[in-house]
Amino acid sequence: MKLLHYFIVPAAFALTVAACTKERNTDGLEYQYQSDVLRLPSQAYNYANPDLPSHLSDLKSRLGAKVTNDGATLGRVLFYDPKLSLTNNTACASCHLQEKGFADPVAFSKGFDGRLTPRNASSIVNTLEHNMFFWDGRETNIKSMVLRPIENHIEMGMDNFKALEKKLGSLDYYKPLFNNAFGSEAVTEERIAEALSQFLNSMVSGNSKFDESSPNGWGSNVPSVFDPGEQRGMELFFNKARCATCHNPSANSFFGGQEQVANIGLDLEPKDLGMGVEDASKAGMFKIPSLRNVALTGPYMHDGRFQTLEEVVEHYNSNIQPVANLHWGLQDGTGTGQPIKLGLTEAEKADLVSFLHALTDEQFVKDDRFSNPFKK
Ligand code: HEC
Ligand code: HEC
Repeated sequence: MKLLHYFIVPAAFALTVAACTKERNTDGLEYQYQSDVLRLPSQAYNYANPDLPSHLSDLKSRLGAKVTNDGATLGRVLFYDPKLSLTNNTACASCHLQEKGFADPVAFSKGFDGRLTPRNASSIVNTLEHNMFFWDGRETNIKSMVLRPIENHIEMGMDNFKALEKKLGSLDYYKPLFNNAFGSEAVTEERIAEALSQFLNSMVSGNSKFDESSPNGWGSNVPSVFDPGEQRGMELFFNKARCATCHNPSANSFFGGQEQVANIGLDLEPKDLGMGVEDASKAGMFKIPSLRNVALTGPYMHDGRFQTLEEVVEHYNSNIQPVANLHWGLQDGTGTGQPIKLGLTEAEKADLVSFLHALTDEQFVKDDRFSNPFKK
């Protein structure tokens, strides 16, 4: 494949490399950002019209309406560019790692000056299906949402967008990218937001085993794709274990919730109030997250309190706290608001976890279109 190389001018080189190198060592993984070479395919990847299974046809048509190949290409570069942070050391991808389903394998992520985020970095997948963003659902518009981490005082610290426009405008590699995406080289806050949201919207996952099991509607071909444990786990997920009350795949293909938020009784007195910051009756309510790629996105919950899916399942099985605003789907049905005890056997818990693993899309987490374009 022919590659376009954009080299940063030599005078700036030494400085750039020193400032842009970021090494992370978490969970045995190492990440290094060096903005010396940006490699992109000579012809933009196909973001706007990818092959997707028929049960995602709705998503596919919305993708075509929202995303252009050049817009998403620019968004990809922005997503991986540490220059978007005040100190040139933190990119979106520093906390949203492709091989981890665009989550971070630590409970709290390190921001541009070493401070930790107060919540666990969310995974990113099928954002076109989401009507709200962040654990407390405080953003409903993806285009304004993507600017929040840039200006956030812990995450990237770049709260002066005029300065950001100027900084990116001074980098030669952005000129053709903005031109291709928007018809001129001008770098504006609006365009940064548009390109980043196009890239996020292009991150569509539809190749998990669960998707394979659904060629003619959800779950239509389960026996030929799932092993017996996964099949039993799926049965539990939709019935006895009640997971699909909230993590519902049929109405919207992302395993997030139609009701969107819930208190699942993690703590009698939540330390993080979630939606309760705005409205006390919603204390402890958080966004129902997508379970796509969930086997890769631990640790789990808004505060990363659970390391494993087994711990998550045990919470629902036996440890739900009787909070006043416990979601009805987790009550025991006696009308007293007491939490349900699922009473799952060890084998059932293991089956449920196998089913959750069947939501992993290996292709998505290796897809070049979503990978780091800055390479040595
Ligand atoms: C320092 C780590 C860090 C950086 C850098 C960062 N994020 Fe995040 N991201 C987080 C955390 C933590 C959350 C959860 C915050 C919350 O809910 O309050 C999050 C949440 C999100 C979500 C919400 C997903 C959902 O389904 O609700 C999206 C999308 C997102 N980030 C995109 C981005 C983009 C785009 C950038 C770069 C412009 C970025 N992030 C930079 C840590 C980071
Ligand atoms: C009442 C609605 C509801 C039900 C029922 C429910 N969940 Fe959840 N789930 C949520 C909410 C809300 C969160 C986020 C809670 C938080 O972080 O405080 C969550 C979080 C999770 C997470 C962590 C995801 C992440 O990215 O951190 C997993 C895994 C999960 N649920 C699996 C399950 C399983 C398995 C079941 C069935 C046994 C189930 N859920 C039942 C609402 C629900």
